[in-house]
Amino acid sequence: MMSPEAESIRTMLAQTDLPLGLAWAMSDPIDDPSLLFPDEAKAIAKAVPNRRAEFTGGRAAARKAMWSLGIHPAAIPMADNRAPIWPEGITGSITHADEICMAIVSEAGRYAGLGLDLEPDVAMDPDLVAEVCSEDDLAGVPVEDQAFLPKRVFSAKEAVYKAHFAKAGISFGFKALAVDLKTGRASFTADSEAQSVPLIHRGDLSFQQWICDGMILSLCAIPRQ
Ligand SMILES: CC(C)(COP(=O)(O)OP(=O)(O)OC[C@H]1O[C@@H](n2cnc3c(N)ncnc32)[C@H](O)[C@@H]1OP(=O)(O)O)[C@@H](O)C(=O)NCCC(=O)NCCS
Repeated sequence: MMSPEAESIRTMLAQTDLPLGLAWAMSDPIDDPSLLFPDEAKAIAKAVPNRRAEFTGGRAAARKAMWSLGIHPAAIPMADNRAPIWPEGITGSITHADEICMAIVSEAGRYAGLGLDLEPDVAMDPDLVAEVCSEDDLAGVPVEDQAFLPKRVFSAKEAVYKAHFAKAGISFGFKALAVDLKTGRASFTADSEAQSVPLIHRGDLSFQQWICDGMILSLCAIPRQ
């Protein structure tokens, strides 16, 4: 049974104009290997039950989303770097938090990369803030919003990272990106953490973020050019 937070997100998304050609779906976490393809089940067999459940819920959500695009159920194996390997012709993204598993998918011809991130909308552990946020990320924000901002910045960066990784296959750290939550713009910084990203892959990206019933949902969709 869906949690009240999941129901709120479902209602919110149903009333939202998402970028064209995207399909999304949700699932509870489910620790049931019969819902997995053999490669998926093998990849997660030795994990603890909670991890198996979120992995399986994510795959179940992804297959539901694929189905709504008219795509038959197919395996989504996990690469060595833990990124999902989408079936030929599909791109997508999976996230899980607070007993909610979500996925978003599209035809790969339409988007070169998708990134979805779900987080509880809570204050971040102060020790982590400096690791995730630069001063610019936090500039100009009213004091009453500052406690919640770092987690929102984190979620935006995770969504952008996932979409960018799906497109370019390059890892980078949090300081490589600056995000503006007001405009939904993400840009690469001059920080040394951005040096792993070739210039050709350092273009600005856009993202959307919703705060809904105590959860943050961030989405980055990189159109194929
Ligand atoms: C991979 C990562 C982005 C996952 O984010 P998270 O908030 O911890 O967890 P989420 O539940 O939102 O997402 C997990 C899902 O992301 C997907 N994922 C994992 N690695 C990925 C990658 N490199 N690219 C795209 N998606 C990835 C997987 O589908 C995973 O779920 P699954 O293992 O059940 O299939 C994060 O753990 C990570 O390693 N980040 C690297 C450093 C970083 O974020 N840099 C940011 C630069 S701005």
